[in-house]
Amino acid sequence: MANTILVGAQWGDEGKGKIIDVLTEQADVVVRTQGGNNAGHTVHIKGRKYVLHLVPSGILRSKKICVIGNGVVVDPVSLVEEIEGLRKLGVRFHRNLFLSETAHLVLPYHRELDEQREILKGKHKIGTTKRGIGPAYGDKAARTGLRVSEVVEPKRFQKHLQFKIRENNEILKAFGAKPLSFKQVHRAYRAAGDYLKEFVANTVILLHEAVRRGDDILFEGAQGTFLDIDHGTYPFVTSSNTTAGGACTGSGIPPHRMDRVVGVMKAYTTRVGEGPLPTENAEVADMLHAMGREFGATTGRPRRCGWFDAVATGHACMVNGIDELAVTNIDGLDSVETIKVCIAYRDGAKRYDYVPNDTETLSRCRPIYAEFPGWRTPTHNVRAWKVLPPKTRSYLKALAELTGAKLSIASVGPGREQTICL
Ligand code: GDP
Ligand code: IMO
Ligand code: MG
Repeated sequence: MANTILVGAQWGDEGKGKIIDVLTEQADVVVRTQGGNNAGHTVHIKGRKYVLHLVPSGILRSKKICVIGNGVVVDPVSLVEEIEGLRKLGVRFHRNLFLSETAHLVLPYHRELDEQREILKGKHKIGTTKRGIGPAYGDKAARTGLRVSEVVEPKRFQKHLQFKIRENNEILKAFGAKPLSFKQVHRAYRAAGDYLKEFVANTVILLHEAVRRGDDILFEGAQGTFLDIDHGTYPFVTSSNTTAGGACTGSGIPPHRMDRVVGVMKAYTTRVGEGPLPTENAEVADMLHAMGREFGATTGRPRRCGWFDAVATGHACMVNGIDELAVTNIDGLDSVETIKVCIAYRDGAKRYDYVPNDTETLSRCRPIYAEFPGWRTPTHNVRAWKVLPPKTRSYLKALAELTGAKLSIASVGPGREQTICL
């Protein structure tokens, strides 16, 4: 399979977890390289549903090595809960999960600050997952963060945490929020540190050994292109590089070792949280929500929905260098009579064939649509490209053409088997 970076080509929740699970069959190693437990990756196997937050989705295939890379921000207490939850579902951990020593920690004051900042912003809030992701990456950039290597090292952790709690309690007090108890945080995090010790490793060395062995590595992107801290709809973004470059910095594997980039996208568009979504459409949202679809895997919030935006996905192909497309949730459009696809934006008299950088400009943009006839046939039982209704094939071919990449996977249901590889 070669070394593959998999990214979300829209606003997150594109179905990355499902596609990772499919591609893991041919991989040896699966690595998360950015984000934290703001991610929620859903995988359905034989009727059982798994939602992964920090643990790479590759863990569901027991012979694969999974790595939480240096670029991830890790809440150790949540990670322990996730591992325990997966164990209860029968997932085995047997020297197949490794956690980078240099990944930064998410602490309770990050979560508190995330919440307080959102409250202060009021109607201008980002709509974060409240998992403390922004403040944790903030500490990393300010060079005041704690890393995994410290939580497994009692003396250093105690000293550093004492200082950080004192500092952050002053900030929390200024917000009018309750200060944290050092004792409580210390106890919970040290217990998590002890639990996680066996997973902690120098993952840069481990991954380079895998490269030398000729292993195939799959880089599991979290979030999506338009949530990227640089390339997304700032400030309505997450705090990491969700685009392909993040896979290199977040793992220590250099760009010339990467062989291909797969972009995952839905056959329509969703977004959870605030910020511009040019193709947002109430009818599409009502239709999908009525089918019980498009509720957040991490927070349960209903996702905003709209038509496929080829301007946005074209941009995603450009900044990620996407070679291949995996289009998911095709079955979500099975009952639609006329399907719309955004091919350009209009802001007053100005037409845009690209995504404008200024978020306020993008908020004003209205979509210019092309229309496609719907296939109005259930597709969830289809397993081969040729068996897909001709109108579905035409629609997918158009998406690939408009986006500028090759279609390689078409997904017609959440299950592993509901996948058509081209
Ligand atoms: P991720 O964050 O990109 O991994 O995506 P999420 O798991 O948050 O959300 C994608 C949702 O779509 C999940 O509920 C998946 O089970 C579901 N899903 C993925 N592909 C398909 C598909 O082709 N059809 C249907 N019906 N559901 C899908
Ligand atoms: P996966 O990996 C969808 C969104 C939040 C909010 C913004 C910032 O499952 O695709 P944060 O908590 O990161 O500071 O929130 O980013 N967001 C996601 N949206 N899928 C995700 O992950 C997301 N992770 C963060 O809703 O708008
Ligand atoms: Mg998700």
